[in-house]
Amino acid sequence: EEQKEREIDEKQMEDDDIYACGDEGAVLKRKDWLGVNRDRRSESTALSQHRLFYQNKQLELYAAKEANRLTLRQLVFFGRSMDEDRLIKSANYVRTELPVRIAHRLRDMQKLPFIVVTQEGVAKVYELYWTAFEKFRRYPPINTLEENVAFCRFLFDILHEHSTVIPTLALGLSLSSPHLSPDDLDSFMRRMLVSRISRRVLAEHHIALSEIQSGKRLPATHGEPHVGIIFTGLNVKRCIEKCGNILRQRGNGWPEIQIDGHLETSFAYIKEHLEYILFELLKNAMRATASNNRNAPSLPPIRATIVAGANDVGVRISDQGGGLFHTLVKTPSDLFSFSHLLPLGMRATVDEQVGQWQQTLASGNYPDDDATDPEVEAGVGHHPRIGIGLPMSNIFATYFGGSLELVTLDGWGTDVYLRLPKLGTNLEGIEV
Ligand code: COI
Repeated sequence: EEQKEREIDEKQMEDDDIYACGDEGAVLKRKDWLGVNRDRRSESTALSQHRLFYQNKQLELYAAKEANRLTLRQLVFFGRSMDEDRLIKSANYVRTELPVRIAHRLRDMQKLPFIVVTQEGVAKVYELYWTAFEKFRRYPPINTLEENVAFCRFLFDILHEHSTVIPTLALGLSLSSPHLSPDDLDSFMRRMLVSRISRRVLAEHHIALSEIQSGKRLPATHGEPHVGIIFTGLNVKRCIEKCGNILRQRGNGWPEIQIDGHLETSFAYIKEHLEYILFELLKNAMRATASNNRNAPSLPPIRATIVAGANDVGVRISDQGGGLFHTLVKTPSDLFSFSHLLPLGMRATVDEQVGQWQQTLASGNYPDDDATDPEVEAGVGHHPRIGIGLPMSNIFATYFGGSLELVTLDGWGTDVYLRLPKLGTNLEGIEV
C-alpha cells in the first residue's frame, strides 16, 4: 500500500512538475525542492536550491504585475520631442518594464510539461530568460546621460545574446511536439513570440532614440524619416522592391515582381516588421512559381497590389505557383502553426542545427532558399527552411492588430492578403 501511495505521489509531482533553473543553469524538479530526494542531495545542491526558492519568489513578484502595453502612436509621440529628461524616463521605463514581461513568459515556461522544458533548445531559451530577468531586476536606476550610454550597451549585448532564440525555441518545441497538443504548442509559441517582439521593440526603440539624441544616428534613412525605430512615412512599394531584389539575387532565376495599385502609399510602421513579412511572402511566392513552372519558357511574374484604405494599408501578393494544398498542408490554419515545422534531421541536436546553418551563412555559401537581411533585421535570425516564415509573419502582422490571410486556387496559384493598421492606435498584442 505504502509503495503504491508513494508511486501516486511521485506521479502527481511529475504531473505538475515545476521547472527551475539556478545561477549555474542547474535544472531541478519540484520533487527535489520538496525534499523527496533529500538523502541524495549534496550540500551545495541544497544551497543552490535555497537560492532557487528565493529567485522564484522574486519571479512571482514580477509576474504578478501587469505589463504596460503601448500603441505605435504612443511610441512615436513620446519619441518625437526628445530631451535629456525624457530619454532618462524612457530608459527607466525599459529597465522596469522588461523584467515584468520576461517574468510572465518564464512563468509560462514553468507551466509546460517538464519533459518539454528539459528539451535542449527549450532549456537553453529558459536559461537565457532567467539570466536576462536577473540582470534587469538588479540593474540600478538610470539618472544621467552617461548612465544611459552604459544602459544602451547593456541592452545591445542582451539583444545580441538572444539573437538565435526563435529558431532554437521553434526547433526545440517541434522536437518535443509529441508531448504538447498543437493548440497548446501554438498558443504557447504565440505568447513567447509576441512578448519577445514587444521586448525587442522597446529595447531597440530606446537605443535608437538615444543614438538619434546623441547624433550617432541620423533621424532619416535614405530620405525616410523615423522616430526611434518607427518610420513615420514608410513607403510600401520601396519595401517590396527591396525584398524582391534581395530574393532575386539569392534565388537563381526567380520570377520578377510587378507592383500596382496605390504606388505612393506610405504610413507609420516599424520597417523591420513590414519587410520581414513581405520578404517571407515573396520568398514563398517566388519559390512556388519557379518550381511549378520548371519547363515553361519564362516564369509568370508575381503581382503585388498595394491599397491605401481609410484605416489600413493592404498588400495582396498573387502568384501562379500552383496553390498550397499539393504540399503536406491539410488546412489553412496549419500554415500558421508551429507544430508542423520540419526538424532538419532528428539526429542532430538543436545546437548543432543552429550552428550548422550559421556556419553556412558565415562561409558566404547561401543555399538558394536561405535567409537574408530582413530576417536578421527583424530579430528572427537566420533559419533553415523549416516552415517558420508564415507563422512568424502572422505573428508580426497581428502584433499591432493587422491580419494575414491566404487563399489558394489549387492548380493555379495563391493570393495572400496582408492588412496593417494605418493609424497606430491599437495596443500591442495582449500576450506581452
Ligand atoms: C529576446 O530577444 O529574446 C529578448 O527578450 C530581448 C530583451 C531581453 C531585450
